[in-house]
Amino acid sequence: MRLQKYLALAGVASRRASEELIKKGQVKVNNRVITTLGIKINPEVDVVKVDDTPVLYKEKKVYLLLNKPKGYITSVNDPHNRPTVMDLIPGIKERLYPVGRLDLDTEGLLLLTNDGQLAYRITHPKYKIDKKYLVKTVGIPSPEKIKSLEKGVLLTEGKTSPARVRIIKVESSRRWAWVEIIIHEGRKRQVRRMFELVGNPVTRLERIQLSFLTLEGLKTGQYRHLTLEEIRLLKRELGILG
Ligand code: URA
Repeated sequence: MRLQKYLALAGVASRRASEELIKKGQVKVNNRVITTLGIKINPEVDVVKVDDTPVLYKEKKVYLLLNKPKGYITSVNDPHNRPTVMDLIPGIKERLYPVGRLDLDTEGLLLLTNDGQLAYRITHPKYKIDKKYLVKTVGIPSPEKIKSLEKGVLLTEGKTSPARVRIIKVESSRRWAWVEIIIHEGRKRQVRRMFELVGNPVTRLERIQLSFLTLEGLKTGQYRHLTLEEIRLLKRELGILG
């Protein structure tokens, strides 16, 4: 967030007057005087002072659960002007960021938040948050292939961590299967690459669960706020206090 916007939001002065304060050398960020306009700060980590008095402003934390349709980029903006997931949450004034990424052609559960700590922990494999996907595959993965997907397969950047995989349904033609996979990681196009590697490419991919959160009650393209109880439970699972 731009420094002058931060000062204005914190009620120090109007945006214009905040710019003047910066130009006059009255504003410090992390104990360094800033006199140029336009620098960006992170309200979660940077310490801003005006005339050596700390400015405290905490943006309200917002947690949204979106049922992402295909055809939307998981990004805050797109240089090619394609639709982004942000287009699906009009009217939310806080600056939110997607937690992890779903490919353009992947559907399903996507969290958006301005809580950096929570977002970081959900995406970091160390916190072992279950991400459950429903996958439509070409052909039916054999029991050996299921086992190797579970144990870990070698992608270009290294072996995948243990996963849980099970076949949910086989199409009567036996040309496709619906498979469920639960992983903790979130490497680029991970699920697609894992199934490709064992010879059963993915033709449809949907994230259906993240930890205990599901898409229940959300049609594709819809979103809702997490409840206070859901936020509390999620934070507890992630070891975040308060
Ligand atoms: N794995 C993928 O391959 N794509 C996604 O969008 C999510 C997980």
